[in-house]
Amino acid sequence: MITVRPVKPGDIEGLSRHVKPTPLLHEARAQLQRDERALYLVALDDETPVGHALLKLPPLGNEHPRLAHTPEVEDLFVAAASRSAGIGTRLLREAAAAARARDHHRLGLAVGVENGGALRLYERAGFTDSGLGEFWVEGAHEVCRYLVKAL
Ligand SMILES: CC(C)(COP(=O)(O)OP(=O)(O)OC[C@H]1O[C@@H](n2cnc3c(N)ncnc32)[C@H](O)[C@@H]1OP(=O)(O)O)[C@@H](O)C(=O)NCCC(=O)NCCS
Repeated sequence: MITVRPVKPGDIEGLSRHVKPTPLLHEARAQLQRDERALYLVALDDETPVGHALLKLPPLGNEHPRLAHTPEVEDLFVAAASRSAGIGTRLLREAAAAARARDHHRLGLAVGVENGGALRLYERAGFTDSGLGEFWVEGAHEVCRYLVKAL
C-alpha cells in the first residue's frame, strides 16, 4: 500500500538506496523541514521509500522567476520501477493539500520544457502556465517554464 507523509530521520538511508543516491540532499531537505521552511514528502510502498517531493514554503529566493508568496513543489521524483502507478500524482496532490492547510491559495512549480511526462502530469492535475516565460534553472540544467494552480 502506498502512503505519503513528511520525511522522518530514519528515511534518509531508504531514500538514498531506493529513490536517489544523494543522502546529503535528503538530509538538507529534512533540515529545511525541521526549520519549517519546507515539507519533504516521502511516498512509501509499505515501508520502502519509492518517491519524494519537496514543498518549499515562502519566502523563497530569487534564483529563478517565480510567483511571490507562493509555495512551490521542487524535485517531484518517483523511482523508475514504481512509475506509472499514480504515485507522482499522489505526491503532488498531498503537496497541494499541505499548502492549502497552511492557508496558501496557489501552488507553483518549474518544469523542464522538454519533460513531456511531467508536463502531462501537471496539466492533468490542473496546473497552467503562469506567463513568466522560459528560463534556465541552474540546478536542474534545463530550460523551464513556471506553472501554477489555484488551491
Ligand atoms: C514525472 C514523474 C514524477 C511521474 O511519476 P509517476 O509516479 O510515474 O506519475 P503517475 O503515475 O501519476 O503518472 C504517470 C503516467 O502513469 C499513468 N498512470 C497513473 N496511474 C496509472 C495506473 N494505475 N495504471 C496505468 N497507468 C497509470 C498516468 O496516466 C501517466 O500517464 P502519461 O505518462 O501517459 O501521462 C516520474 O516520471 C519521474 O520521477 N520522472 C523523473 C523526474 C522528473 O522528471 N520529475 C519532474 C520534475 S518537474
